Amino acid sequence: MENKLNSKLDVIAEQVRACKKCDLCQTRTNAVPGKGNQNAEIILVGEAPGRNEDKKGEPFVGSAGKRLNEILSDAGIDRDDVYITNIVKCRPPDNRVPTKNEEKSCLNYINEEISIINPKVVCIMGNTAFNTLLGGKEITKNHGNFIEKDGRMYFVTYHPAATIYNQKLIDELKTDFKKLFKFLGESSDKKQYEERRCDFCMAKTKHEVVVIPKIVTKKRRWLYKCAQCNHERWLIPYRTVAEGLY
Ligand code: URA
Ligand code: SF4
Repeated sequence: MENKLNSKLDVIAEQVRACKKCDLCQTRTNAVPGKGNQNAEIILVGEAPGRNEDKKGEPFVGSAGKRLNEILSDAGIDRDDVYITNIVKCRPPDNRVPTKNEEKSCLNYINEEISIINPKVVCIMGNTAFNTLLGGKEITKNHGNFIEKDGRMYFVTYHPAATIYNQKLIDELKTDFKKLFKFLGESSDKKQYEERRCDFCMAKTKHEVVVIPKIVTKKRRWLYKCAQCNHERWLIPYRTVAEGLY
């Protein structure tokens, strides 16, 4: 399963690297495919690669990327647990906003990334992604909102680059991300119980299995809490319970 997903994303990355569907292919150094965890429950979508991304062929590695790392770590999220991509995969000259035609030429790639990963939420960062994916405008009025469209959940927030010289926006972006990850944690938090002998009080008793909210990939971790003595321990669930958790 994982390998299959991986190879599908690899195929897209290869197509992006070889793509000549719009004029940006003539000025790019490297095309920049999406990158990250193929099991992610969240995809973060920016606008287009900047200078550093174009040099390295990876998304969000320049100053916007640094800001993004800061915001993720503030929300307790490991960058390796999410998937990060852009609306347009090649750098527009002088970092201008991509044209409608460029966005349209590139749209198929992001649609495929979303459909292969099938995340719980697509996090839209900034006006370009907001407009391209949802036809929206004015991030300032809509940031912090969840929007459902065609059975898919989106979350709208600022582009990290917009916050670089603006402390107020940094705080708002941080608050938005905390809201987003709280939602993800809650939505994966179904109560499950298992009969186990508690290795602390030794009673054969019910254990509540808690899915830890911070973990945003499908590789979950489980905390067991004994109903008798409240002793907590990390354990692997029995198969039947594990199935119920997926
Ligand atoms: N800005 C973006 O929108 N994407 C990147 O990858 C880097 C900066
Ligand atoms: Fe292809 Fe997108 Fe790059 Fe245009 S921006 S050349 S459509 S990968």
